[in-house]
Amino acid sequence: MAEKIKLIKVLKNQVLYSLPSAALLGDGFIDGVGWPADKASLVFVFPAKEAGSGEPVRDMVSGRKYVCRLTYMADKKMLPAGGTPGLSCGLTLEPFKNTAEHKKWARATDLKYFSGPFKKYLTPSFEAEAKEYYKNELPKAEGVSVRKKGRVVSMLTLLKIAGKPGSRPLDWISWVWVDPGLAKAERLAAHALLRGWLRENSRECIGASVHAANLRSQKWFLRSGFRPARISFSRRASSPAGRRAGRG
Ligand SMILES: CC(C)(COP(=O)(O)OP(=O)(O)OC[C@H]1O[C@@H](n2cnc3c(N)ncnc32)[C@H](O)[C@@H]1OP(=O)(O)O)[C@@H](O)C(=O)NCCC(=O)NCCS
Repeated sequence: MAEKIKLIKVLKNQVLYSLPSAALLGDGFIDGVGWPADKASLVFVFPAKEAGSGEPVRDMVSGRKYVCRLTYMADKKMLPAGGTPGLSCGLTLEPFKNTAEHKKWARATDLKYFSGPFKKYLTPSFEAEAKEYYKNELPKAEGVSVRKKGRVVSMLTLLKIAGKPGSRPLDWISWVWVDPGLAKAERLAAHALLRGWLRENSRECIGASVHAANLRSQKWFLRSGFRPARISFSRRASSPAGRRAGRG
């Protein structure tokens, strides 16, 4: 089956292939692909004809030998319109007071709602990448919070990516969180506020890296107008993947 894929390019940390169908993917298939030991990531361009389905990508491997992540992309014009003031359930969109407050909420919610519960799906280098991300990337990012009576109940972190000359301006969502204790109507209001903020504040294209095992997050991105663009694999016992910053 591996002969159906085509090598597109080999980069410093990754090898990139085309893929006729995501249904091919599984441990056995990946074992048969040319993936040099010194390349941390094996990446496939997600088949365009399947990307439009609006369905989350099934995690075929992450419980075993590999970790599977998706790159989701959206043109910001694809994002649904933001919240209507009367329908915001009393929630308000507010900037963080400073980087320290942004970092505090990002770290605490990452640990409690992602890194902890999803530990068995993460590569061993994940914690080292986290240290680097919180020290060097997050302070350069823009954060926004949603508050209920002053308390932070949702947040988003947006990184500005230095793209190649001539490429479309790109931002990267490295973290999004919504308090599961909110009622469904409040969560929907928080989603609308965050999307409205993104429409106002992001550049033309927005990306995000999402672990395939994080189905709820995949569905959130799909519902927000994003579609899978790439699917990448890391070996469980791997060195840092050199991937774009992104926690979930
Ligand atoms: C990802 C997140 C922001 C989504 O917000 P949310 O308020 O939970 O979103 P919803 O409740 O609308 O759930 C999103 C979808 O997942 C579905 N869903 C809910 N729980 C689920 C579960 N355990 N498994 C699979 N799907 C689930 C919902 O039905 C909904 O589907 P729909 O879009 O077809 O209606 C939120 O769950 C969260 O903060 N998770 C922890 C942090 C995280 O992982 N962030 C992602 C970083 S990339």
